[in-house]
Amino acid sequence: MKKRIKKKISSLYIHIPFCSKICPYCDFVKLIKNDNFIEQYIKELTKDLLSVENKFKKFKSIYIGGGTPSILSCDHLKTILRIIKRIRRKNAEITIECNPEDITIEKLKLLKKYGINRISIGIQSFDQNILKEINRDYKIDYFSLIKLVKQYIKNINVDLIYGFKNQSFNDLKNDLNNFIRLDISHLSIYSLIVDKNSIFYNQGYKEQNEDDSRIFYDYIVSFLRKNGFERYEISNFAKNKKYSKHNLNYWKNSNYLAIGIGASGYIDDTRYRISPSFNLYINGKREIEKENINSSLKKEYFFITNLRLEKGFKIKEYNKIFKSNFLNEFKNIIDDLSKEGLVKIKKGYFSCTDEGLAILDRILLKFI
Ligand SMILES: C[S@@+](CC[C@H](N)C(=O)[O-])C[C@H]1O[C@@H](n2cnc3c(N)ncnc32)[C@H](O)[C@@H]1O
Ligand code: SF4
Repeated sequence: MKKRIKKKISSLYIHIPFCSKICPYCDFVKLIKNDNFIEQYIKELTKDLLSVENKFKKFKSIYIGGGTPSILSCDHLKTILRIIKRIRRKNAEITIECNPEDITIEKLKLLKKYGINRISIGIQSFDQNILKEINRDYKIDYFSLIKLVKQYIKNINVDLIYGFKNQSFNDLKNDLNNFIRLDISHLSIYSLIVDKNSIFYNQGYKEQNEDDSRIFYDYIVSFLRKNGFERYEISNFAKNKKYSKHNLNYWKNSNYLAIGIGASGYIDDTRYRISPSFNLYINGKREIEKENINSSLKKEYFFITNLRLEKGFKIKEYNKIFKSNFLNEFKNIIDDLSKEGLVKIKKGYFSCTDEGLAILDRILLKFI
């Protein structure tokens, strides 16, 4: 029998859609936890993972995201981690998203045993009033928690959100100070987005106004820099070059595979999204919405992703991908933006300045 040639894709995303509570800002594909649903979902996900093992070469990065992967029982985690162990390259980065209240010694031991080497913990805020406002009203000693996590997994990220209605500038400072006290090497910090599909939207919750958001963002960047963090992406900060390899792959607009409900992937100039329907999924149906990425769309995605990066993109790479000359193609725009101090060219890379990154949406409009 002819041996199947496996396809090479660097990254894999695995979606676990279950949550114990729904946060009012959340727009991700998620379902309230139910033991029976989880059982059925893991069964189907296992089939997808086995099919991935058959068709693809080993991955450089795997990201188990949600929803809340950490609410899975140790048995369910073991079921998927056994396969994940077989489909990862030796030095691959394997990340799991965890909610603080789910982290136990038993789970940490299991994650370590199966080679999970990066953990992303959704703290969102250290402020008890804000946590209450976002339906995450638990009391956790984060310092003891992180100390415990460090015994098993060294590469830790924390997610924070800023721009809540009742969050003062002082509250933001407290959150950042608390983060620094954790002594970890990665922070993702996002401004609160009130999306149409969220509970906050239906309650008429308003996003922070642009002026305040800018004041908060500028403070975040300067505070984190003072504390030894490099902003390598608009919302992501790392110490000692502990960048997220998986997310860098997204931001470099490279190919990635995705499995699980509502998960999105990008392969061979096609973006795809698996139907978010749980019923279809557990009945073995994978309805996939595909979008063919023609050259002009590819350019749009290229700018949207690469310009988020502090380093920007290599001009030669752009010229090669789009068979063009970037500096000629956008000459007037680049001249204008440079004069305003919003973009720069350094060592063959085109990128936004600090001021440019702070108003990235406006810059993107010039290129797409
Ligand atoms: C999809 S969530 C999953 C992680 C995990 N379930 C949790 O809640 O921590 C990934 C991260 O996206 C961020 N996020 C989700 N919704 C957001 C929103 N509406 N505005 C800003 N950040 C958001 C949060 O920081 C969250 O930790
Ligand atoms: S933010 Fe996280 S825990 Fe909250 S509903 Fe969304 S996925 Fe679930």
